[in-house]
Amino acid sequence: MEPLVAPMQKSNQFEFPITDLIEQRRSRRAYSSQPIEQEKIDSLFEAARWAPSSMNEQPWAYIYATKDQPELWNKLLEALNESNRVWAKEAPLLILSMARKIHIRNGAVNGAAKYDVGAANAFLSMQATHFGLNVHQMGGYDRQKAIESLNIPETHEPMVIMAIGYLGDAENLPENLKQREAAPRERYTQEFFVMNKPF
Ligand SMILES: Cc1cc2nc3c(=O)[nH]c(=O)nc-3n(C[C@H](O)[C@H](O)[C@H](O)COP(=O)(O)O)c2cc1C
Repeated sequence: MEPLVAPMQKSNQFEFPITDLIEQRRSRRAYSSQPIEQEKIDSLFEAARWAPSSMNEQPWAYIYATKDQPELWNKLLEALNESNRVWAKEAPLLILSMARKIHIRNGAVNGAAKYDVGAANAFLSMQATHFGLNVHQMGGYDRQKAIESLNIPETHEPMVIMAIGYLGDAENLPENLKQREAAPRERYTQEFFVMNKPF
């Protein structure tokens, strides 16, 4: 079968200038064991709090644990797929993000909930970058396991788990990940997704 979209040009260059925070953000896998200050953790959620959301419903919710809370931290870690756990186990902070599926105002389904949690997580990630913290989002985890071990109610849908920490030495990673860590990032060029004409 023909691919739906023709393969397009990718580049590892910034095509146009952007703000430093966006330029610096990367999903790295090497973490230092340095704990994260509680006031910085508070600020990460404060950044999420001020994200825009449809009808200002703020449909995000988070469960977080630091390594100082091994029981809760382990529940988050153990939900991850093995391929993520192998490096995320070094992260001093794990956060599960969730979307509240129902509008608080009238109980109707909130069709924008996942979109809004994505925006909140992006704000959180930018605040983390500002602190010199690395955020690595993960969709690779067992949702049912997370729902059961963390007692997540039906009103909420688990989204990504985030591993957060100060950067560590990539030399300590398994060989295959060491190479991925050093590899340049690629993005489709703007001509693939920006249109100044009808589609
Ligand atoms: C929704 C979502 C799910 C992701 N799941 C995983 C994952 O399970 N494991 C992983 O190593 N990276 C995961 N990532 C990270 C992406 O692979 C990464 O963002 C992408 O390769 C671009 O790299 P960059 O974030 O360094 O720019 C995920 C990212 C997002 C936004």
